[in-house]
Amino acid sequence: MSFYTKITRPLLFLFSLERVHNVALWLLGVVGRGPFGQWVLKKLFAWRSPQLEREVFGVKFPNPVGVAAGLDTNAKLYRQWGALGYGFVEIGTLTPRPQTGAPKPRMFAIPRDRGIVERMEYPNCGLEKAIKHLRRRAYGQKVVVGANIAPGSVTSPDKFTADYLRLFRNLYQYVEYFTVNVSALVSDAERYTNIDKKKVEEVLDALFDFRRGQNQYRPILLKVSPDWSLKQIDDMVDILIDTPLDGLVVAGGSTRLGGRMSERKLLRMSGGFMSGAPLLERTIELVDYVCRKMEHRYPVIGVGGVMTAEDVQRLLDAGASLVQCYSAVVYEGPGFAGRVCRKLSANASAAEHKA
Ligand SMILES: Cc1cc2nc3c(=O)[nH]c(=O)nc-3n(C[C@H](O)[C@H](O)[C@H](O)COP(=O)(O)O)c2cc1C
Repeated sequence: MSFYTKITRPLLFLFSLERVHNVALWLLGVVGRGPFGQWVLKKLFAWRSPQLEREVFGVKFPNPVGVAAGLDTNAKLYRQWGALGYGFVEIGTLTPRPQTGAPKPRMFAIPRDRGIVERMEYPNCGLEKAIKHLRRRAYGQKVVVGANIAPGSVTSPDKFTADYLRLFRNLYQYVEYFTVNVSALVSDAERYTNIDKKKVEEVLDALFDFRRGQNQYRPILLKVSPDWSLKQIDDMVDILIDTPLDGLVVAGGSTRLGGRMSERKLLRMSGGFMSGAPLLERTIELVDYVCRKMEHRYPVIGVGGVMTAEDVQRLLDAGASLVQCYSAVVYEGPGFAGRVCRKLSANASAAEHKA
């Protein structure tokens, strides 16, 4: 047990999770603002090894462990996450204009299950400010940055594609890959579960068209939900095979996979998405299913429920090329990526030794 899990975490959970979370992120921002702070973070937490480097969808990653969307929504901390030892950061979900998201409270810890329930509804600083933050990348950082994009909450459905395109076009020179968040294209009536293949294709076509005219190639991924039926997941795999889509992010928070919550808590959290340990088995099952379905020809980023190095290894073994985490950062503290990378290196050395 680390100092974080023994002392810091129980103290944090005494207060509103979102407030404490924001204070922790602010602190990380202050500590790692300059090169000296980043050097200290690196020395204290990161684990680097050439064994862990990999090229996925044409992008070089220092290691396969990344920060999931929602943790660095406004692109303010990617340098700090890189210093802590994460190989990549998915900023966003970003929308064209700033938005405040759902009323608070909207983020709850379920310590018994090592889970988090959220119904944030994508609060973010909007495109313009995010670009301002991304311009700081000029100072040089190895961490890969991807952008998770979605239409604004007040955008009418006939303008969704225009919103995606605006984000894609304007962020194109600042990030290495894109994740298209299609939750806006999901019908509310069916509680986030019914995804329309045609609508997804329409959005992607607009992005492919723009990309064709560019000198640099930016991979495009699509984040699928663990709540979709296999038929809907199959539809997304078909899109992956039939179009220039580059990969899938499988699979994120779930409205169905509950933890063991009291009825009162359940009521307060209704409509929320579960993240954390309760998701792991479903994520592994889906990553395995998707990878088999497309015969391991396209990359998958696995996300949902990883809390230990073993969990990360299981997702990689199931076929994921990269893995993202959110809840593990909250439950396991800032040294999570470093500890995972150290273990993955040891696993890789053991495998080499055996061969
Ligand atoms: C508070 C919170 C905010 C999130 N915000 C986003 C978001 O803006 N966009 C998105 O695609 N996923 C978002 N997610 C989902 C995460 O990216 C991730 O898919 C999910 O938490 C499962 O990973 P985990 O089990 O490692 O936490 C959010 C999750 C949490 C807990």
